[in-house]
Order: sequence, then structure tokens, then C-alpha cells
Amino acid sequence: MNLTAVILAAGKGTRMKSSIPKVLHEIAGMPMLGHVLNLTNDLGIEAPTIVIGHGAQNVKLYVKSRQKNAICVFQERQLGTGNALKCTEKSLRKFDGNLIILYGDVPFIKKKTVVAMVEKVRQGADLVVLGFNTDNPENYGRLVIGKNNTITEIVEEKETSLSQKQITTCNAGIYCGSSKLIFSLLNKISNKNKSDEFYLTDIVKIIADKGLKTKFVLATLEETQGINCKNDLAQAELYFQNQLRERFLSNGVTLIDPKTTYFSHDTEIGKDSIIRPNVIFGPEVKIKKNVEILSFSHLEGCTIEKRSKIGPFARVRPGTYIEEDVKIGNFVEIKKTTLRTGAKANHLTYVGDAEIGVGTNIGAGTIVCNYDGVFKHSTQIGKNAFIGSNSSLIAPVKIGANAVVGSGSVISIDVPDDALAISRASQKNKKNLGKRIMEKLRSMKK
Ligand code: UD1
Ligand code: CA
Repeated sequence: MNLTAVILAAGKGTRMKSSIPKVLHEIAGMPMLGHVLNLTNDLGIEAPTIVIGHGAQNVKLYVKSRQKNAICVFQERQLGTGNALKCTEKSLRKFDGNLIILYGDVPFIKKKTVVAMVEKVRQGADLVVLGFNTDNPENYGRLVIGKNNTITEIVEEKETSLSQKQITTCNAGIYCGSSKLIFSLLNKISNKNKSDEFYLTDIVKIIADKGLKTKFVLATLEETQGINCKNDLAQAELYFQNQLRERFLSNGVTLIDPKTTYFSHDTEIGKDSIIRPNVIFGPEVKIKKNVEILSFSHLEGCTIEKRSKIGPFARVRPGTYIEEDVKIGNFVEIKKTTLRTGAKANHLTYVGDAEIGVGTNIGAGTIVCNYDGVFKHSTQIGKNAFIGSNSSLIAPVKIGANAVVGSGSVISIDVPDDALAISRASQKNKKNLGKRIMEKLRSMKK
């Protein structure tokens, strides 16, 4: 289909009370604008036009990082949605097809909804508006519906009459129609209203006055929710998390308490994996089948192979690759490290910039000292090694296969295969001294 999209994303988002441009606020770890770009992608639109303004540089950087051939158009002053669309006229002048207009702060519109709108245009509507019904229509433009389900006008909240305030069918801010027609009418929009803004919504009345038809498609309140303040953002996060939870459950992942499990938009989890309550997934986590993540674990930027078990209270940080049957226990932090099959770090440990061999055991309280205050250094531990509890491994260092490190050692020199390394003060037992000291101390207290 000959379809392209414009995404309006120049607004300041005053109601967000933030120095970050509104459309870069994240939902499940992805800017809300990214969710809209996912939609245009799903629709097969290769070069959407994005109107940027507030925080333009950062918004453009993000858009280009997602989609190189997207076109960013700068709106110098935020004079309203009608003016925003006007800014794209030059770049779309040659386009002779249907235009879908999306708002960067309405992130959850589904592909099938847009397809239904395009279909209505094909059937003869001159413009199609997406609407929704709500009991709380304040803050939204109202659809004034006349004969034959044709919209005669969209009235912004500020401009509503008392009777129009009662209308509960609202404008979602998504429109579809012939690009040529829309641009030919944009000049007729004025800013003579309570906000001194060019309301794109006025185009509906302009179309009606010309004897042309604006139709509408309805979607759910959840799908069409707009984000104007931090409260809306929290609602949007909840809605999206619930969708992700449902998707994982229906794909065969066990979530013991779905509402306390938080995902990133890109989390992948294999069948029969079990996620216990209160687990948080940051970006770029891939979990294979039959993995178990225990409560209060926090994971980001890692891949975890089959049958491994993580947590409770584990932190797995970016650049970590965990092979099959690995165990990461409580209060263990792993960063940029590969743990080969069957390796274990069960308690109170930090491992960073390391490679841990097959079957190797990292004892409780082991710290890999990877940072000298300026540079990061790497540590390699061979297969089936045993690192005694409370050891410090000062990187860069290599510990051979089958090597054993005695508890409490500070290892700064490479340990060969099969060797035992101990580096700690040797123990002395002084006969009766313990008892004598305690007796003396107690007598001083009396
Ligand atoms: C808008 C609609 C309203 C609808 C609601 C749905 C208008 C006049 N009103 O109201 O009918 O019910 O969305 O969520 O369109 N923008 C620009 N440049 C501007 C102004 C806005 O790019 O000069 C962008 C914003 O970044 C935002 C979108 O357009 O992504 C909508 O603007 P916003 O100010 O949030 O409009 P609403 O008051 O929500
Ligand atoms: Ca809005």
C-alpha cells in the first residue's frame, strides 16, 4: 500500500515537568517515540517523517539510531499540532498516497487499527480519525458525530460548550487520509482560539464545510491513551508491563507473581523457565529454556543458557554470558563475565571482566579485583578450579585448570594448572593465651 507516516513529536511536554523531551521518556526501557516507530515499522513504512522541536538534537539522535532513513523535520516554535504537520509539507510534497498522522505521545496504537483506518479511506472516506470512549474525557478533543457516523467537528476541551463537555467519544490524535488533500487544507487552519494554537483537529470542520466526509474508527482506551504527565507515564508502563506478562505466560514461561515481575521491551525468555516474584529485567536479556530466576534478582545485558539458576538477590550486569547448568547464588554480582557450563558462584561474590572455566567453584565472599582505580583488567580461571572463600583475585591474573586457591588468599601472581596457591599469614596457636586475656579483661570491668 502507498502509505507513509508523520509522527508529531516536537512538543515540550510541559505537564511532564522534566528537562527530558517528553517523547524520550521510556516505557519498558524504550522511549515512547520508539514504540511509535515500532508501529510504523510494522506497517512497512521505511522512511517516516518525524516533527522534532523541543530537545530536537537528542530526539533526532534517537530517531536516527533506530531508523537511519527516517526524515526529521524541525518545528522552530511549537505553535500547535496543525503547524507541526505544516512543517512536513516540503518533505512530503511529492508523495501521492495516504498519510497516517501519529502523535509521538500516543504510543500503543496497534497495526490492525491503522489498517482498519486505511481501509475506511479506501472505501471512500476523505479523512478517518481514531476515536475512543471514556468516562473521563477532560483533556481530550471531543468528536462531534453527525449523520451517517460522519464527524462534523473535533472540539478541544478548552473550546467546548457545556453540552459538548458531555461528549465521551474522544480524539486519539491519529488521522488517515490522502496526503494531497490534507496538505491542501492545512492553510485554512487558524489560531484564533483560546490557546492561540493551530489545532490540527480543526481540519475536520474544514473538510465537513467542503462537503467531504470524515469517518472514524474506535479503539480501546488502553490502546489510545496519551501521555501528558508522569501519572499518565506510570499508567502506560503498567499497561505495557501487563501486555508483556501476558505474552510470556502464553508462551509457556512461569511467572509466580506476574505483577511483581518487570520486563524490558526486548526481554526474551524460553519455555519452562520460572521467574519467581520481584525480579527485574533491564534491557537486552536473553534467557533460554528451563532457567530459574529467584526473587529479588536484577538482570541486564546478559544471556543465560538452559537450566542455569540465578538468585535470589543476584545482580547480573551487561556483557555477561552464562552457559548451561551454572549457579549464581545470593548477593552475587557478575559483570562482563563468561561462566562456562556448570560453574558456580553461590554466595556473596563479585566477578567482573572474567572468564570462569567449566565446573569451577567460586567460594563465598570471593572478590575479583578488576579495577585498579584507572583501568579494568581481566581474570581467567580454568576448568574445575576451586577458589576458597574470602579470596581476592587481583586482576590481571590467570588461575589454571584444576588449581585450588586456599581460603582468604590474595592472589596477584598467576597460578599454574593443578597447583595449590595460598597467600595469607600462617596461623599460630598460643597455648592458654585466649583464656588469660579474657579473664584479665573481665576483671578490669568489675
Ligand atoms: C491532542 C489533540 C486532542 C487529542 C489528544 C490525544 C490537538 C489540537 N489536540 O491534544 O484532540 O484528544 O491529542 O492524545 O491536536 N506537537 C508538536 N508540535 C506542536 C504541538 C504538539 O509536534 O506545536 C506534538 C506533541 O509533541 C505531541 C502531539 O503533537 O506528541 C500532541 O500534542 P499535545 O500538546 O500533547 O496535544 P494534546 O493536548 O494532548
Ligand atoms: Ca498529548
